[in-house]
Amino acid sequence: MTTEEKPELKQFLDAVHQVHGYDFTDYSEASIQRRINHFLLLKKIDGMEELKKLVLKDEKLFEEFVQELSVTVTEMFRDPTFYLSLRRQVVSQLATYPVIKIWIAGCATGEEVYSVAILLREEGLLQRSIIYATDINQKSLSHAREGVFDIDHMKTYTVNYQKAGGKTAFSDYYTANYNAVIFDQSLRQNIVFSPHNLSVDKSFNEFQLIICRNVLIYFNQRLQNKVLNLFYESLCPFGFLALGNKESLLFTDKRNSFEDIDKKEKIYKRLG
Ligand SMILES: C[S@@+](CC[C@H](N)C(=O)[O-])C[C@H]1O[C@@H](n2cnc3c(N)ncnc32)[C@H](O)[C@@H]1O
Repeated sequence: MTTEEKPELKQFLDAVHQVHGYDFTDYSEASIQRRINHFLLLKKIDGMEELKKLVLKDEKLFEEFVQELSVTVTEMFRDPTFYLSLRRQVVSQLATYPVIKIWIAGCATGEEVYSVAILLREEGLLQRSIIYATDINQKSLSHAREGVFDIDHMKTYTVNYQKAGGKTAFSDYYTANYNAVIFDQSLRQNIVFSPHNLSVDKSFNEFQLIICRNVLIYFNQRLQNKVLNLFYESLCPFGFLALGNKESLLFTDKRNSFEDIDKKEKIYKRLG
């Protein structure tokens, strides 16, 4: 297909990829179009042609565009039964490794990462764990590094934490300061926050556990498949892949390379 024959959206995403190195071409079309429409309205930009001109030459606007494309909705101990399952079905096997390397891909503003760190602390594993928390969105990563969250969310997070099998008072992990809370510095010691783009970047280590929840839903089938291959290659033999209840391995070519650990929470174990 020549460039002239490609639909407008595809042409635009190809140009963004060429100029900025960010590849959104295999994101789910419906969701990306919705986000672009919202961005056009927000910035009062008159259609895709103008958006293309502006985004290709204006770095700052491009950064804002990336923000718009990255849905950062998240929570601490989101879907608490997922964490219960990690505690019950994964932790004892992680404990057999002298050093536990965990990759949390698409970590947004870090709520999921602090939740995993708390769980590991309570299971006596945080000291010998290294959590690599990555996202495409630099602004979200800065927020995550600070470990400061809105005090208004703590009620919901406390309930989630309890349902997730939390072993103490949730407030033991943070200090309140006016409208915000700051999470315990010691939780962050073993966390490395870093940019990583699942659509273009390679693996960077070998992990005993990879968690990637509520991210693949924004990708089309081809990109989901590519990312699941990346996860497969990044896991040690018998390592765990945790996708959460909204995604699955079902339609990917790696389906037979994993055994089910929890069918509802979509936790898998790499075969050999
Ligand atoms: C809805 S949040 C999920 C946050 C968290 N995992 C959770 O379940 O609560 C989706 C995250 O995926 C990130 N994301 C989207 N495309 C990505 C890509 N290509 N590489 C890495 N992260 C990406 C977004 O920036 C966003 O922070």
